[in-house]
Order: sequence, then structure tokens, then C-alpha cells
Amino acid sequence: MSNVHVFDHPLIQHKLTYIRDVNTGTKEFRELVDEVATLMAYEITRDLQLQEIEIETPIGPAKSNVIAGKKLGIIPILRAGLGMVEGILELIPAARVGHVGLYRDPETLKPVEYYVKLPNDVAERRLIVVDPMLATGGSAVEAINSIKKRGAKNITFMCLVAAPEGVEVLTEAHPDVDVYIAAMDEKLNEDGYIVPGLGDAGDRLFGTK
Ligand code: PRP
Ligand code: URA
Repeated sequence: MSNVHVFDHPLIQHKLTYIRDVNTGTKEFRELVDEVATLMAYEITRDLQLQEIEIETPIGPAKSNVIAGKKLGIIPILRAGLGMVEGILELIPAARVGHVGLYRDPETLKPVEYYVKLPNDVAERRLIVVDPMLATGGSAVEAINSIKKRGAKNITFMCLVAAPEGVEVLTEAHPDVDVYIAAMDEKLNEDGYIVPGLGDAGDRLFGTK
């Protein structure tokens, strides 16, 4: 699967260990998700296009690079995707943020859409869809269907923990989407939770149960 990238950066792996730990409380969980999102954003923006401009340094004239090309958009899948937005905005403060609200029906595990609001120039932006968890893959596939229906063309998906089942479902449904994962876990359990995973990402981020 050439468009699937798993990060092995030691800082990401270190922070992810504490994100997984059941003894990590809400405040620290939130801070760590934020930090990992920043580190992942740094890695996935390596291929951004540059353009040379002329500036004046205190010593004299210089030609130097700035970011060019498509503008960025961040699309968190509500709720848990919200936890990754600030970390990405740290590096890309001018990015627009759109939202796709989905929840997973606890019986069927199928995603149910309840909210969509996107930047109006979504077709012209490079979009990063974010959600900490890729489990059955249903939510990611549905969120990407939803934004493609509204014109999105250039899409990357970024998550913290993925199950192999979800990666397969996502890459089959959207072979054009690059998928970035901090850790590929073993499997899903009978309730559709990732093993060993980190539990319910939304509940851990927002302190709900
Ligand atoms: C979680 C998670 C993903 C989804 C992943 O959201 O944040 O969106 O489950 O599961 P899937 O790959 O099987 O679709 P949840 O439905 O619990 O909603 P929440 O973020 O509002 O808690
Ligand atoms: N959603 C979560 O929050 N955690 C999982 O393990 C699976 C889906």
C-alpha cells in the first residue's frame, strides 16, 4: 500500500505511549495529542511547494524561499478530530478549518453524519482530514465521501492509531488519498475498538463517558 505511511519518529512513538496509557488524565492526554499532531504535520508538509522571493537582510539583498502552491485546509472529524487541530495550526496558522460531524452507531458501528461545514474554496485547497482513530474505517470513508461530494480533490488523511482492517477499507474506497498513521495496531475487538489502541479517543479528550 504505497500511499500508507507509518511514522517511526522516536518523539511520536514516545508521546503515543503516554497517550495510550490508561493512567494518563484528560489534561495530559489533550496536550500529548496536540504535540503529536504538530510533529505529524511537520512530517507531512515536507512536500509543500516553495517559491523564491527577493528580500533584504540586514547585510544586503537575498533570494529566499516561501511556501507557495495550494493553500491548506484542516478537516477534523468531530468530535475527536478536534483534538488534533490546534497542533497543526501551530505550524500552519493560516489554514482554514472545516468540520465533518460523524458518530459511530454503537450497535451497527456505521457512521452517522450530523454536521458539515467547509471552507467555500474547498476544491482549491490541499485538505488534511484528521481523526485520532481509524478503526473499521467507516467514519474516515464517509467523511471523505462527504467532502469529495462538496468538491474536495486533494486530500490527505492523518490519524494516531489505525487497525489494519480500517486501513484496508479506507485505501480501497479512496486510493487517491495519502494516509499517515502514527502507529499501526494489531486488530479490532468484537466491539470495534482498536487493540491495544487507546480506548475511546473522544471520551478521553473531552472527559466524557
Ligand atoms: C471515533 C473516532 C472515529 C471513529 C473511528 O469517533 O474518533 O471518528 O470512532 O471508528 P471507525 O473507523 O470504526 O468509524 P466516535 O464515533 O466515537 O465519535 P466521537 O469522536 O464523537 O467520540
Ligand atoms: N473509536 C475510538 O475512539 N476508539 C477505538 O478504539 C475505535 C473507535
